[in-house]
Amino acid sequence: MKQQGGTDDAKRRAGESAADTVSDGAVVGLGTGSTAAYAIRELGRRVDSGLDIRGIPTSHGARRLAREVGIPLTTLAEATPDVAIDGADQVAGFELIKGGGAAHAREKLVDSAAERFLVVVDETKLAEPLDAAVPVEVLPDAVPVVERELAALGGTPELRAAERKDGPVVTDNGNLVVDCAFGAIADAEALAADLSALPGVVEHGLFVGLADEIHVGGDAVDVRR
Ligand code: A5P
Repeated sequence: MKQQGGTDDAKRRAGESAADTVSDGAVVGLGTGSTAAYAIRELGRRVDSGLDIRGIPTSHGARRLAREVGIPLTTLAEATPDVAIDGADQVAGFELIKGGGAAHAREKLVDSAAERFLVVVDETKLAEPLDAAVPVEVLPDAVPVVERELAALGGTPELRAAERKDGPVVTDNGNLVVDCAFGAIADAEALAADLSALPGVVEHGLFVGLADEIHVGGDAVDVRR
């Protein structure tokens, strides 16, 4: 379900642009995916040069990369993020679809806890309106029930298959992911509320009312506030 992204240079510009806003002493939510990874690597370089920050990773992958580049880590139990930097699969205005890497449950937790949430994307992620399939993390036993409910909401659900493992993708939290296509999403806020209300749904990838800035990488960086 992971979408085709833009160039590495465009992702790097977006990631580095957001990392550039992080000040000394900050607690930083560390997003998941190839664009957020550029921000994490840039923060690692700045830590090497003396920047004093602590990171809160949004996935096993982000934690591993942060350790590799030397960012000291903390947890939501010990600190509140001043800022979170995270990627997205699709962006319309300030509404996002996330979860292409199946990390959206912890991403939403960390990104929404942050004082400021900066989104880093290349320009291929921009859309109007949102129309990508929405990743829905589901308790394993609930999958058939949730699939029926998603179909009743007008969606076309598909259990996400793993690529180098037989069977489904299993999230960092031990759950499964149902990608649900709804076509063009006219009212993301209403759909988000409907998805959140379904028993068995752990979290969905519609991020509405959370983003504060969008750093869009292309030949240069366009920061939308
Ligand atoms: C992880 O589950 C996602 O929400 C990612 O943040 C999103 O897929 C963006 O990843 P890329 O920057 O690799 O496209």
